[in-house]
Amino acid sequence: MTPSQKPILRALNGEVLPVPPVWMMRQAGRYLPEYRATRAQAGDFLSLCYNPELAAEVTLQPIRRYGFDAAILFADILLLPQALGADLWFVTGEGPRLSTITGPDDLARLKPVDEIDAVLNPVYETVRILSRELPREVTLIGFAGAPWTVATYMIAGRGTPDQAPAHKLMQEDPATFDALMARITAGTIEYLSRQIEAGAEVVKLFDSWAGSLKGDAFRKYSLEPAREIIAALKIRHPGTPVIAFPREAGQGYVGFARATGADCVALDNSVTPEWAAEHVQVDGCVQGNLASHHMVTGGQALVDETKRIVRAFSKGPHIFNLGHGITPDADPDNVQRMIDAIRG
Ligand code: CP3
Repeated sequence: MTPSQKPILRALNGEVLPVPPVWMMRQAGRYLPEYRATRAQAGDFLSLCYNPELAAEVTLQPIRRYGFDAAILFADILLLPQALGADLWFVTGEGPRLSTITGPDDLARLKPVDEIDAVLNPVYETVRILSRELPREVTLIGFAGAPWTVATYMIAGRGTPDQAPAHKLMQEDPATFDALMARITAGTIEYLSRQIEAGAEVVKLFDSWAGSLKGDAFRKYSLEPAREIIAALKIRHPGTPVIAFPREAGQGYVGFARATGADCVALDNSVTPEWAAEHVQVDGCVQGNLASHHMVTGGQALVDETKRIVRAFSKGPHIFNLGHGITPDADPDNVQRMIDAIRG
């Protein structure tokens, strides 16, 4: 199979396939016993991210078990802040913790973008291993966090329900905020370029907290950085498709692909597939958008909703996915039920 025949790449190229290709956000994760075993072997989450052999192994586990059409590099959006000099650690059961950015002095302590590879080289090695070992019909997806989402963690030092510390810095010290956004944007371009050079065939930008940016702020801090990153990548790697995920953008999804140059917009499940087919898929490929709770609850609702999404997007290019990551309490059998409903 030549690369252009891979189902994910065909969909990203605008082809309407009789059966949509499928993968899942967080498909390598704690709901899988084999992931939990490898993570225990690595010691902790960050040691797993920086161990190329084990990171490649957990990336491959859901491919072996389910035969997904894409593998997503096992890493985390917070490795780039760490490479830029932030302290990073994970508190079990709670989530990430980072040193905070509260003003110009914290910003001055960050490292220049041309030093990130010293930390991120193991990630590129994971990509190289995967591009050798993946089955030939499976597409390898690299990724990074979008600047706004990464900034919310760097400013607050942790996940926050409403991203208030980042909004506050944006209002009260726009010079520091804008300089931080510029540093992350430049770092993201380098980081994604290296992933592509190592063998990533598609890259995805996760703007998980785009939904808390409204109106002009959405344009300035979600859409514009995505446009800048995609424009730079298209110059260096014109053939590599980019998926943008401005999660919970709502009306902001409309025209996002055209405005940013993204080849595909990933949709969360706050929008219906019928609405998104009419207003977003008109511009090209979309990805999504089954609510991840179906992976916990299962039953006929899972099958019905999966078929509804396939049907709603059947007239245009579509990659089936969840609306957000699969959760640790998901039942692995429900993932197989979803795949059977799509392919059967
Ligand atoms: O999708 C994949 O399977 C690829 C790997 C991947 C991970 N994180 C592994 C991970 C990807 C693409 C991410 C992205 C990511 N990381 C995002 C954006 C997407 C989203 O979910 O909104 C964000 C916001 C992060 C930051 C992050 N990493 C948080 C907030 C947490 C803790 C919350 C949680 O689920 O525990 C992580 C940890 C993390 N990243 C895990 C995994 C598999 C769980 C860690 C573990 O094994 O204990």
